[in-house]
Amino acid sequence: MYICICKGITEKQLQEVISARPAHNSKDILKALGIGSDCGTCVEDAINSILQKSSAPIELKDTSNKS
Ligand code: FES
Repeated sequence: MYICICKGITEKQLQEVISARPAHNSKDILKALGIGSDCGTCVEDAINSILQKSSAPIELKDTSNKS
C-alpha cells in the first residue's frame, strides 16, 4: 500500500527506513524518502505510522509568536 502517492513510497519502504534509523526523528525519516515533499497530504498518515512503529520523536512546529 502506498503511503505517499506523489513519490511512490510504500508502507514497506517506510518501515525499512524506520527499522534502519530507529533513533532518527520523524522529520529526518520523511526527508530521507521525500514523503510530503510534493502535495503534502500524506504527511499526517506517515507521521502516525512512524509514531506507531518507532521511537522517533516528533518535531512540533513552534507556532508561538516570539518577538
Ligand atoms: S502524497 Fe506524499 S507528497 Fe503527495
